[in-house]
Amino acid sequence: MHGEVAISGAKNAVLPIMAATLLTSEPCLIRRVPDLSDVRFMTQILTWLGAEVKSEGDTVRVRAKKIKGAGDYDLVRKMRGSICIMGPLLGRLHDVKVSLPGGCVIGARPINLHLKGLQSLGAKVTIENGYVHAKAKRLVGSAMFLGGRSGSTVLGTANVMMAAVLAEGVTVIESAACEPEVTDLAHFLNAMGAKISGIGSPTLTITGVKQLHGAEHEVIPDRIEAATYAIAAAVTNGEVTLRGARADHMHAVLDKLKDSGVTTHCNEKGISVKRNGRLKPVDITTLPYSGFPTDAQAQMMALMIMTPGISIITERIFESRFMHVSELSRLGADIEIEGPSAIVKGGKPLSGAPVMASDLRASAALVIAGLAARGNTQVNRVYHLDRGYENIDVKLRKLGARIERIEES
Ligand code: EPZ
Repeated sequence: MHGEVAISGAKNAVLPIMAATLLTSEPCLIRRVPDLSDVRFMTQILTWLGAEVKSEGDTVRVRAKKIKGAGDYDLVRKMRGSICIMGPLLGRLHDVKVSLPGGCVIGARPINLHLKGLQSLGAKVTIENGYVHAKAKRLVGSAMFLGGRSGSTVLGTANVMMAAVLAEGVTVIESAACEPEVTDLAHFLNAMGAKISGIGSPTLTITGVKQLHGAEHEVIPDRIEAATYAIAAAVTNGEVTLRGARADHMHAVLDKLKDSGVTTHCNEKGISVKRNGRLKPVDITTLPYSGFPTDAQAQMMALMIMTPGISIITERIFESRFMHVSELSRLGADIEIEGPSAIVKGGKPLSGAPVMASDLRASAALVIAGLAARGNTQVNRVYHLDRGYENIDVKLRKLGARIERIEES
């Protein structure tokens, strides 16, 4: 693959940022909003809550003048990420009721840390009939530790931060998530008049304010989308420029690509990626940011199955995020799972086959492997892809890939 690909706004930043607009009755303008099914879902949820949402190109204007505190059961249940409406609704209305998100194929994904944080601010939390109900006469700032069995929680940090910005007094979150998406949300909240310091560090200090005002914000580029295209370029022995990508958000991925024999250069446009001959096996362990992102694990596995030698990929964030292994094996890959690790014996030629997508990042890995397999690969259930990749088939075709979308009969 050769050429340039424009990196869209980050899905995992725009969802909590859209939810944060619920904290004010004034209009907010969000730019570089990617056209994804998850974003459309969040728009439906905000509209359902009473907000006025208008989209024009990649700009969304939200005005949550008058809102209700109970999210639609089915809408929230369908998209886990929408749990991040809980913090802003509690912060503004002191009363919120949303359906429990439940687990997904990659893990149980409990929200105990979210609830622990909201309870520390004084909320009374009950779980009944599949709903979580959080209520508080007043929210009062407090110090809390938000680390769990696999470290920090991204949306847990986001939810507690959004509830704490309107609480009385000071909140200190220890073991806060440091992901760039959490940093982007904190910058948006400060643009709305919040007082958050320690942004980007594991200790966030939030001094509550009486109210927030409207604000404008441009969402950061999607580092996981950028990582996906970088890996696709490496798998196809190509040279691609990731326009608008930010290398300062991608150190762990770029470092592993370098170790595997891929050259990356940062320039004014973004990042250029070029494979230099033979690939080398690398071991990967997923960790909270700034460690190697779990959301790029499957894609990196697609690169390692192309790489002669043994590489070990260990998943430390989610307990069952190897759904792509059996599908990659259909293409001829040799992968063995040992507890939290997958042992990849790479370098075997792949041949195309019909495969089934199970979740967002697994489906991206299947597309990447399909680009390297002899013959045709048919990836089914691409709705998973559309949740997190804007026009992936169009963008890949522009880079020279032979890929087309087939309507499922
Ligand atoms: C966010 O999910 C992302 N989603 C995920 O991206 C990403 O994989 C994940 O962070 C980790 O980076 C969005 O931002 C919408 P966590 P989140 O809370 O916040 C455990 C993608 O592909 N945990 O940081 O739900 C949890 O089970 C998606 O774009 C608790 O135990 O993830 C997991 O093992 C997939 N209790 C770990 O912490 C809690 O209360 C990290 O989860 C919360 C989490």
